[in-house]
Amino acid sequence: MTGDGHGGRTLIVGSGFVGRAVADRIAERGGGAVLASRRPPSSGTADWVPLDAADPAACARVVRSVAPDDLVLVHGPSDVSWCEADPERAAELHAGAAANLVAAAGDRRLLLVSTDNVFDGSSPENHEATPTAPANAYGRAKLRAERVVREAPDATVLRVSLVYGWEPEGAAKWLNYFAACAHRLRAGEPVAAPEDQWTTPVLVADVAAVTAAALAPGTPELLHLGGPDRISRADWAEAIADGLGAPRELVVRGPRAAGRYASRPANTCLTSNRLGAFLAGTGLRVRGVAEGVRTLLAAAPEAAR
Ligand SMILES: NC(=O)c1ccc[n+]([C@@H]2O[C@H](COP(=O)([O-])OP(=O)(O)OC[C@H]3O[C@@H](n4cnc5c(N)ncnc54)[C@H](OP(=O)(O)O)[C@@H]3O)[C@@H](O)[C@H]2O)c1
Repeated sequence: MTGDGHGGRTLIVGSGFVGRAVADRIAERGGGAVLASRRPPSSGTADWVPLDAADPAACARVVRSVAPDDLVLVHGPSDVSWCEADPERAAELHAGAAANLVAAAGDRRLLLVSTDNVFDGSSPENHEATPTAPANAYGRAKLRAERVVREAPDATVLRVSLVYGWEPEGAAKWLNYFAACAHRLRAGEPVAAPEDQWTTPVLVADVAAVTAAALAPGTPELLHLGGPDRISRADWAEAIADGLGAPRELVVRGPRAAGRYASRPANTCLTSNRLGAFLAGTGLRVRGVAEGVRTLLAAAPEAAR
């Protein structure tokens, strides 16, 4: 067992925004983390091995050579529009890769980072007992991956709400909402911000800490991780502007139907009946938006400039 300070070794499949943060957290707590993806991570110092998780033989080979105690599945494709354009491939990459890794893992512990997109976004409340109803190809692909992982002998599915933190401006993928807003507002550029699209954002460092802790045995098989605040994108953007000392007028409030969020559901929110009890056993705390924004703006790493 690894995660928070138990000194084992974790194979993290996916070395993107979330995967790298999980590797950093495990390393900080004295564990060993090895990232795996098709291309090397864009930053960080964690060990990395090449892996296409769609290839079953490669999964078996990497698990054999890394010899992890446990595995975190946090691979893409994470682009909702890409998945919508090629739903078959999205399902193959999420569920197929999950099946390959479940087979390769044997009886090792597995954790899949999943998403609020397994719900249709019509409700502000989505607990672990809420029936799933994905409204897009990404959500359907992730739900299929969840079902595969839940067949494994020792697994947890951790559904995570919108994750935020610093990402460099030149990052190839679409930046998370916090980073996109902060970069634009710093440059004095306007930000389109829907008043009618709600999220429960969660700081990437908190996602990493909870993921590492959830590698411990006894963690529920299904756990929701959303931030404690349900906030509209418009209010969130204004909080970022306030933190930066940028004029609030740069935040252009409007309906989501008007812009790039038109295809997004009204709610990308997760609530939980289990998270409180789980966190109490770990000593961890999930920060709200005001504290999260303050923490990020105070840190403002060079990489994000
Ligand atoms: N970010 C969020 O807000 C959020 C919220 C909830 C859940 N999640 C879940 O967390 C996961 C990661 O999100 P993220 O934001 O970290 O995405 P990301 O930055 O796009 O990273 C995805 C990683 O997966 C790797 N990958 C893609 N296909 C692969 C394959 N066939 N084999 C091995 N690695 C592969 C990518 O590298 P290569 O392309 O080089 O292989 C990349 O390192 C996604 O599955 C997403 O569902 C994210």
